[in-house]
Amino acid sequence: MVAEHIAELLQLQEQYATPFLYEASVCGSIPIIRNLEEYYDNDLLKSICGIVNGSTNYILTKMIDEQMPYPKALERAQFLGFAETDPSLDVLGIDAVNKLTILLAHAYGVVTHPQRLLHIGIDRLNPFDSKHAEEKDFVIKLVAQAIKLTNGKIAAFVLPHYIDKSSQLYAVKDEFNGVVIQSSLADKQFLYGKGAGRYPTASAVLSDISALRYAYRYEYHKLNTHAEITDDFYLRIYCSFERITQIELKDFEWVEEFHSQEARQYLIGVIQFKKLIASNWVNKKTISIIVCPDGVIEEIDTRKVKKLSHLLAGSHFVEKTSETLSNLPKELSGI
Ligand SMILES: NC(=O)c1ccc[n+]([C@@H]2O[C@H](COP(=O)([O-])OP(=O)(O)OC[C@H]3O[C@@H](n4cnc5c(N)ncnc54)[C@H](OP(=O)(O)O)[C@@H]3O)[C@@H](O)[C@H]2O)c1
Repeated sequence: MVAEHIAELLQLQEQYATPFLYEASVCGSIPIIRNLEEYYDNDLLKSICGIVNGSTNYILTKMIDEQMPYPKALERAQFLGFAETDPSLDVLGIDAVNKLTILLAHAYGVVTHPQRLLHIGIDRLNPFDSKHAEEKDFVIKLVAQAIKLTNGKIAAFVLPHYIDKSSQLYAVKDEFNGVVIQSSLADKQFLYGKGAGRYPTASAVLSDISALRYAYRYEYHKLNTHAEITDDFYLRIYCSFERITQIELKDFEWVEEFHSQEARQYLIGVIQFKKLIASNWVNKKTISIIVCPDGVIEEIDTRKVKKLSHLLAGSHFVEKTSETLSNLPKELSGI
């Protein structure tokens, strides 16, 4: 309700001069909204990157740590009461994108609608993808990201991510939530806690009630910075599919790896976000899309120049050596 009606709720607060607090709506007991509202100045806040949905995190933990099949892990999450009333809200990434919408208003003063943000859930993940995670020592997490790019615009999306051990999110397991906040001066800070459950949720609600005693209200003071969402940036993604013909290779700037097995194939490549959302394959249920570690790339020009200089010098530019890269048609590994 908050995410879908945030613009209207802002207007109602203004009209009736009445505070409306909703700390529990994002990450349950973690005081993320008030921190973003009060502490992080917009210019200093580089990014927020969080596991904001406990149910999917529980399912992914079971799938990776215990090799539990997805349907069984979902059933267990429902049995334990971690899933939303309608579990499709969790597994399709809708709950996470709702939370991202609320975070965007408080982090960057961006008022948007969840339907305007790309969100892919965990329902399309394949055991093949978990196996890849295991081989690389990664875990898979459903991550909501908002990043302030150097041009001041905001990149925002919810996608499954491969997370390596250097990230604080690596250790966020089961139904727990965690958010990494990066600011220019403080660097990375990490908030971790219970995202649901009656007592943790009550703690956030109680804190709001207590704050109302001294007339606390969200000021939304970043709204006047007029920050905008952009789709002009690049992602390094892993894509797995039954056959490579299910995607459009020409949508990628370049492909770094391609592996083919009988049951499934995958590639790792760099794609412009704009092209990803406009592609005719992004929503295909048979394709897994997972963001690689440090997968957000602001601009690729310097890297293109680097590739070109390698090509002119007569050498092949291969960012990650892969025996099977040669399986790709030649034009795909060029710029
Ligand atoms: N329960 C927890 O432990 C907990 C903890 C932390 C955070 N949260 C978060 O808090 C939110 C609500 O959770 P809940 O357990 O209270 O869910 P819930 O029992 O399903 O209640 C959701 C309420 O919101 C209303 N609603 C939903 N979408 C709406 C829309 N677009 N317009 C108007 N009303 C709308 C529903 O109305 P109808 O009944 O008419 O559908 C319902 O009254 C969720 O995002 C959840 O993740 C819950």
